[in-house]
Order: sequence, then structure tokens, then C-alpha cells
Amino acid sequence: MILITGGAGYIGSHTCVELLNAGYKIIVVDNFSNSNPEVINRIKKVTGKDFIFFEVDLLDQEAIEDIFNKYKIEAVIHFAGFKAVGESVEIPLAYYHNNITSTLLLCSIMQKFNVKKMVFSSSATVYGDTDLVPIQENSPLSATNPYGYTKLMIEQILQDLSNSDDSWSIALLRYFNPIGAHESGLLGENPNGIPNNLLPYISKVASGEINFLNVFGNDYPTKDGTGIRDYIHVVDLSLGHVKALNKVLRSKSIEAYNLGTGNGYSVIEVINAFEEASGKRVNYKITSRRPGDIAISYADPQKAQKDLDWKAMRSLDDMCRDAWNFVQKNPNGIGKTNLDKKLVISS
Ligand code: UD1
Repeated sequence: MILITGGAGYIGSHTCVELLNAGYKIIVVDNFSNSNPEVINRIKKVTGKDFIFFEVDLLDQEAIEDIFNKYKIEAVIHFAGFKAVGESVEIPLAYYHNNITSTLLLCSIMQKFNVKKMVFSSSATVYGDTDLVPIQENSPLSATNPYGYTKLMIEQILQDLSNSDDSWSIALLRYFNPIGAHESGLLGENPNGIPNNLLPYISKVASGEINFLNVFGNDYPTKDGTGIRDYIHVVDLSLGHVKALNKVLRSKSIEAYNLGTGNGYSVIEVINAFEEASGKRVNYKITSRRPGDIAISYADPQKAQKDLDWKAMRSLDDMCRDAWNFVQKNPNGIGKTNLDKKLVISS
């Protein structure tokens, strides 16, 4: 049995699908703090498979211990955590408490039950504001906000744990910019309220819910002046987790892996690709740079290719097509009514 924390979230839910497709037996825990119970039904519908689910908070040590007591867990894929950069600056204590404390509790329970295999959901945010691209795993690490620090600190905690006891086996997966949706249109990114990230924002402009996109700066040293990122299809990213799990189940080490395509696209290129995929206009205005943004970020994904036998296969057009399909099929998000959405946006 593989325990998935945060399995109802955007990347978690897609990973559950690929694990079930690969024949793994899974147990999912989620407190729905940034997701919806309907996601669990959708995972079952997409795969035609059943699995065990608990609505539980990772900070509830007793409830998590009960699960370890009851089931034979071999490994954990740890997604659960708060992830909004801006919010982390406003409420840092909540971020440090939720992300760090829950991971410490989880690791202690794993140690107690002698479950020493983990795949951790890290982020390319741990490379801070490096401008040396393509980014390799041995680049210097830093953070620019509390969210980023939680990822960096957890990586350090897991590194120290592995140093102290070499029977641990851990993969730190550093995601670049996950976008897109499951091709069934049943699962996708489902943010509450006004989105912060580029793709959910573009989707809402294309669907007419928001009038225009603010493009944050066109004076970066890039081909068209807008920021360049390594966008990766969420299904490719999920398949990377299956490969990383295969690896931690058969080895004893701690390794970090970039999960990206190795290709960088500018904001304008993404807008054009989305217009093409959706047949809709994406109106935009150029505004000032967003504080903390860097000009260019894209991965060197060769380590994951070599060690995990994984490579992203889906194109930017696939990502935009699947994202648009999801938005059209779920105009109010997953498991939300139109009324819920109005309440969230106005609150
Ligand atoms: C952001 C986070 C990063 C996190 C990642 C997770 C910030 C500063 N960084 O990365 O820590 O790991 O999400 O997915 O929030 N853009 C616009 N208009 C918008 C939104 C974005 O022009 O309304 C531009 C940005 O300037 C950037 C690109 O689109 O060049 C991608 O932005 P975004 O999707 O927010 O991702 P990151 O900034 O790379």
C-alpha cells in the first residue's frame, strides 16, 4: 500500500490516477483545505478503480498513526501543504506550522513504523532567483518567500534524516510549472477565487470570467521581453512520480530530481498557444513586473531521464488543449456550485 498525502489536490489527484493505472494499491488522505471531496469520486471514475480514502488533517497525529497501524504501508508520496506564495508572505506562521510540522509528524510516524521510503513534492522554487539556465539539481539553493522556505527546509530535514539513517530512501521532486489537465476533462486545476498562476488566469480570461490578463513586465532580457518558464503537463509530472516511486522502492538513497521539459516558453507564447487551442481571444495588458519574479527558468531534466527513465512527452499545445477542455467541462470547478464560486471570489 502506498500512502498519498494531499491526494485530492491538483498534482496529487493526477498522480493517484497514474498510480492506480500502474497497478499500485493506494490510501489517500486529504483535509480538503484546498480541494473538494468530488475529486475523490472523479479519480475513481477516471480509473474505474476503488481505493481507501480518509478525510484527515496531517497535523492529527493520532489519526495518521491509526492508518499506519491498520494498513501495511510501504511508502509515502507527500503532497499535502499550503502552496500560495503571496499568502505565505501574509501568514508565514500558518505556512511554517502547516507545512513543516505536518512533515515532521509524518516522518516520525514513518520512522516508528519502519516505513522509510518517501517521494516528496518539492518545487523549482528551491533554486531561488538563479539565472543560470538550464537549472541543474546541484545549483545553489535558496528561497525568496516563506512558501519557498518551507520546501527548502523540508528538503533539508529529509536530507538530515537520510544522513542519520541510511535505510531511508527519498526522492525530492522539484517541479517546474505544472499546467494542463487530465485528458478526460474530469480532473484539473481548481483554484479557489482569483488565481495567481498564469494558466488558471488565462483560462478565466478565455472563458470570459475575467476581462483581461495582466502580463507582468515586457522588459525582461528574453526574446519578447516577457518571463520564460518551463511548463510541464500535469500528467507527465504524475508519471514522474510513478517512476520516482519505483526507484525509492528498490534503492536506498536520497536524490533530488528536476521534473520539467527542458523547454522554456514566454508569457506571450503561452497566450498564443492558448488562443490557438481554445479558439478564444485572450486579452491582455502589459503591466509592471511582479515583485520576486525572475526572467528565465527552465530545467535540465537529464538526471530524471537517466536515473528514473522518465521524460516529459506532452507539448505546450497538449497542455493548453487539456486545460481548456477541463475549463469547458467544469465551468464552476470540481464539485462547486456557481453560488460557491461567487462567494469565494467576493470574500
Ligand atoms: C509561481 C511561484 C513559485 C511556485 C510556482 C508554482 C511566484 C512569484 N512564484 O511561479 O514560487 O513554485 O508558481 O506553480 O508566485 N504571469 C503573468 N500574469 C499573471 C500570472 C503570471 O504575466 O497573471 C507571468 C509571470 O510573471 C511568470 C509566468 O507568467 O513569468 C508564470 O507565472 P506563474 O504561473 O505565477 O508561475 P511562477 O512565477 O513561475
